[in-house]
Amino acid sequence: MNKYLVIGNPIAHSLSPLLHNYWFKKYRFLDSIYEKKKVEKKDLKKIVERIKNDEVKGVNVTVPFKREIFNFIDTAPYEVQFTKSVNTLVKENDKVVGYNTDQQGFEISLEENDWDCKDKKILIIGAGGVTPSILSTFIKVDGAEKIYLSNRTRSKAEELKKLWDKALGIYQMKKDTIEVIDWEKKSELCDLIINTTSVGLTKDEKLNFDFSDYNNKKDVLFYDLIYNPKETNFLKDARIRGNRTMNGKMMFLWQAHLAFKMWTGVSPTIDEEVIKLLD
Ligand SMILES: NC(=O)c1ccc[n+]([C@@H]2O[C@H](COP(=O)([O-])OP(=O)(O)OC[C@H]3O[C@@H](n4cnc5c(N)ncnc54)[C@H](OP(=O)(O)O)[C@@H]3O)[C@@H](O)[C@H]2O)c1
Repeated sequence: MNKYLVIGNPIAHSLSPLLHNYWFKKYRFLDSIYEKKKVEKKDLKKIVERIKNDEVKGVNVTVPFKREIFNFIDTAPYEVQFTKSVNTLVKENDKVVGYNTDQQGFEISLEENDWDCKDKKILIIGAGGVTPSILSTFIKVDGAEKIYLSNRTRSKAEELKKLWDKALGIYQMKKDTIEVIDWEKKSELCDLIINTTSVGLTKDEKLNFDFSDYNNKKDVLFYDLIYNPKETNFLKDARIRGNRTMNGKMMFLWQAHLAFKMWTGVSPTIDEEVIKLLD
């Protein structure tokens, strides 16, 4: 049996097993199974060893271990060495390689909505394991006009800024493109506001930002990376204000698509059936 895992804590919300097992069945990988496993920090080394020993074939890493797992892998592509954010593990030539499919998953989800970041102002809430993938999407030639970062632990947002400030020149972006603002403080009005925190995974949780300036701003997109629950309070409030909303479902599907392809060589179709499967 080829075993695959998604590891994290909490992990109950993860729909990865549902999705990957659906694709395993559809593409006739009948000797493959994908499970979720709640782990602690102390278990990460052992998980990597299990891949090395061929006990586990592939692993997805979710909240809060995307950064921590970097310390245990053998190697990673350049962009992952830069961000130190890993969401997919696979064994290649006897080495456990850490990849990240979140960035591409997120980018595709925006492209599917014809959303282009050129000259746009963006507020990114959070500075956890997934946030580097989100931030890097907007740092490119013809990238964002301004990126505000706000995290409960401000120093983590400062670290991200410090890292990416080095890259701005390469893409002819202004030195002050990235600005860290205090937690829950107002920024100037933005075109896109993204919740990259885990606040909302539990139904009653709520961020306390004052978004009243966005009332009836129909073109402003509020994007929550969380896909389960489907509508967090962050998105519900935005819908009531009259803003555009998007949850993390399409990003989730695309990051999974890329991981599945890496593990099996098969490029699984993202169609209505699979989109409905997650509802
Ligand atoms: N749709 C997708 O495909 C996809 C992919 C990846 C991640 N996600 C989602 O993105 C979220 C973050 O994932 P992650 O891996 O970055 O998690 P993480 O590394 O654990 O980071 C958690 C982030 O949430 C903040 N946070 C947690 N509890 C908070 C609270 N009570 N108040 C304020 N801030 C709080 C943390 O702030 P501090 O730094 O102050 O602790 C940190 O910024 C999760 O909900 C995950 O499910 C979705």
